[in-house]
Amino acid sequence: MSPRAPEPDSRHLPVMVDEVVAALAIVPGETLVDGTFGAGGYTRAMLGAGAGRVIAFDRDPDAIAEGASLVPDALGDEARLTLIEENFSQMDRVLAARGIGPADGIALDIGVSSMQLDRADRGFSFQSDGPLDMRMSKAGMTAADFVNDGDEADIAQVIKDYGEEPRARSIARAIIAARPITRTAELAAVVRKALGYRQGQKSDPATRTFQAIRIHLNAELEELEQGLRAAERALAPGGRLAVVTFHSLEDRIVKRFLKSRSGATPAGSRHRPETASGPAPSFGHVKKPVSASERELAINPRARSARLRSAVRTDAPAWDQAKYSQGGRA
Ligand SMILES: C[S@@+](CC[C@H](N)C(=O)[O-])C[C@H]1O[C@@H](n2cnc3c(N)ncnc32)[C@H](O)[C@@H]1O
Repeated sequence: MSPRAPEPDSRHLPVMVDEVVAALAIVPGETLVDGTFGAGGYTRAMLGAGAGRVIAFDRDPDAIAEGASLVPDALGDEARLTLIEENFSQMDRVLAARGIGPADGIALDIGVSSMQLDRADRGFSFQSDGPLDMRMSKAGMTAADFVNDGDEADIAQVIKDYGEEPRARSIARAIIAARPITRTAELAAVVRKALGYRQGQKSDPATRTFQAIRIHLNAELEELEQGLRAAERALAPGGRLAVVTFHSLEDRIVKRFLKSRSGATPAGSRHRPETASGPAPSFGHVKKPVSASERELAINPRARSARLRSAVRTDAPAWDQAKYSQGGRA
């Protein structure tokens, strides 16, 4: 990190930042994209590693507002950093509209930030009470709208699919019976009661329900799928992609994407092999997933479930998204 780069706020330690910087293999002067600016940990590290320019995206207006006052000043060179309040799924469109690119490296650090979790008024946390909100962009439907207006079957489906919660139906039933629910503490209490929470239990039974509602409201898995395709279109040949995920639903999407785009997934099925007809691989050098080091885990236990996957863009065209969708052959 350059001597001009400040120490990050210790409450918001970036996860696996050294491993991400290594995967990005930044050559001084290159143009990098940080798709998930958050508290700016990756952006700082990119600039510290010699990036000529960083374009940083975040859909959270608070993250962008705080970054605008912090990072350019701290690095003393505003021209090297452009902050954009936008979903990372739009990165290729936004970069092209501004005449920037293609990018030499792109990092995505998927999920919620420590800042979002730690601020009770954002409504992501059941550790501290706040309005039931959970919107990263502060726009659209809130978590309160979802639990108070949704029907039982839809609520159960979301909790089952995105929380991998086996008792989703009991929770949905309890939510319907307790409506209206407007505070995070209320929702946590409803879930704990439905599942039978014992004081001192290792993991809070509300965790999975909160994760599920957050993923659903923010369309996080759809954004990740579209973001990977946007990165495929935005990267220069030889450009590096580094993606950090925090749970298996996300990691599976990245794994499948890189597997298919690197040609490791046969285009056809076992019964109907299709060899030469698929598109040329758009990614190569797909690395095995990397986890946080013991040293990092000792200072930042939040890194425990993090997985980094990385690959290098080939010079083949980006795949036709209509033909090769995530759920099917790609
Ligand atoms: C885990 S934090 C990133 C932390 C960051 N790497 C750092 O070092 O400070 C994830 C951030 O990505 C943002 N985010 C999540 N999904 C997004 C999306 N689809 N488009 C843009 N930003 C997104 C969140 O608002 C949050 O600020």
